[in-house]
Amino acid sequence: MHIMDSERTYIAHSHSVEDTQRLAASLVRYVQAQDVVLLDGDLGAGKTHFVQGIAHAMGIHDEVTSPTFTILLSYPGIDHNGASLTLNHFDLYRLDDPADLDDIGYWETLEGPGVSFIEWGHKFASCLPFDYLDISIDVIGEDDRVFTICACGDRARRLLAAWAQDEEARLTPSTSKNVR
Ligand SMILES: Nc1ncnc2c1ncn2[C@@H]1O[C@H](COP(=O)(O)OP(=O)(O)OP(=O)(O)O)[C@@H](O)[C@H]1O
Ligand SMILES: [Mg+2]
Repeated sequence: MHIMDSERTYIAHSHSVEDTQRLAASLVRYVQAQDVVLLDGDLGAGKTHFVQGIAHAMGIHDEVTSPTFTILLSYPGIDHNGASLTLNHFDLYRLDDPADLDDIGYWETLEGPGVSFIEWGHKFASCLPFDYLDISIDVIGEDDRVFTICACGDRARRLLAAWAQDEEARLTPSTSKNVR
């Protein structure tokens, strides 16, 4: 059966924090307002370091740490063309009750004028956006990580198709059918 590029799962290998941040920077060339990226993987997998790479490429000079206790931190940044683009960085790890997300304006933030990255984004089924890029990070060695990337929704599929064409991203189509 012919599998369209836009439906593929992609893999990226990282051998260092710098690799991870380069991979993140390559994604910034394609993101736009209202894009949502879910980041999953064990404690210490590299989710926050990936977002640091995003922040750096968006011209954000603040130190980006995990918003573990606040759930959400937002930073004014710029997109690849130099236009304003807010970076929203969520971390759902310590969230006990997904209803609390209403208090911090979760849905309004996702639908607002920013791009959103959500650590532990799969924690609650009720928090899943309708359209998102799904990134899962596996630790395979002290500095080695495997990123497994797939898309849920039309916009995410277009985003991933564009990102996958970027030579610096070095995404390779996954040969495994059941990676998640
Ligand atoms: N290739 C790599 N990519 C990213 N981080 C790496 C890599 N190799 C080693 N590391 C280390 O792994 C750790 C990743 O920490 P980070 O805070 O980004 O993880 P996290 O997934 O956000 O964890 P948490 O769930 O606790 O928020 C850091 O100590 C970093 O130096
Ligand atoms: Mg983190």
